[in-house]
Amino acid sequence: MLIDSHAHLQDKDFSGEIDAVIQRAAEAGVQKIVCVGWDLESSRQAVNIARRHKGIYAVAGVHPHDASSLTSEVISKIYELAKDDKVVAIGEIGLDYYRNLSPQDVQKQAFIEQIRIARELHKPIVIHDRDAHQEVYNIVKKEKAGSNGGVMHCFSGHLPLAIDLMKEGFYLSLAGPVTYKNAKKTHEVAARVPMDRLMIETDCPYLTPEPQRGKRNEPAHVKLVAEKLAELRHKTLEEVAYLTSLNTQTVFRIKD
Ligand code: NI
Repeated sequence: MLIDSHAHLQDKDFSGEIDAVIQRAAEAGVQKIVCVGWDLESSRQAVNIARRHKGIYAVAGVHPHDASSLTSEVISKIYELAKDDKVVAIGEIGLDYYRNLSPQDVQKQAFIEQIRIARELHKPIVIHDRDAHQEVYNIVKKEKAGSNGGVMHCFSGHLPLAIDLMKEGFYLSLAGPVTYKNAKKTHEVAARVPMDRLMIETDCPYLTPEPQRGKRNEPAHVKLVAEKLAELRHKTLEEVAYLTSLNTQTVFRIKD
């Protein structure tokens, strides 16, 4: 069994096709999918999809791109939504200093406030970090953000950062970029991080793995990420599938 630990099934790219996409995933051996929100509306949609489908779980939160939308009213709505049993984590939250679609101080505030929601509800967090490694690390350390566990989604940092984050209680998730030829830094992380801290994901509809790169991504393609990880770790696909699924279920406390 494979798990796609980070997918955006509610994205407009999948509209009208969600059932077919989930079916294709199942046929590829992907039996569970974690559907992640990026703002209030997409978080609500994630919960609705999770309620309708067995094996689908939701993550609720506001992405750093949308940090400016996190008013106190939205914070209380995310809080209420996140109490739902199908919501396995708060996310995706964090910092994106590459695109800076919300001002950096607003991003930091939104990140901190949502870490506090997760701590109050005793749920793990799903972190988005782009070009903000040091600041993300400083905040998670100061806020004890790993106290309920969590995952650095689509990890793109160096091995030393991976080690520091694991010490703070985090797991690391690898996506399509690990299949790219020039992703040397990510190959090193994938080859050397302990297997009991690794997860896999698609981040679909984005980040399509090789050899499908250029096409729309979808959860069935998490198998390509698993195959690359198996190659880098000298393990079988079955071993990688088993271990990454176990880790994902541990982080998100998925029991069924
Ligand atoms: Ni994402």
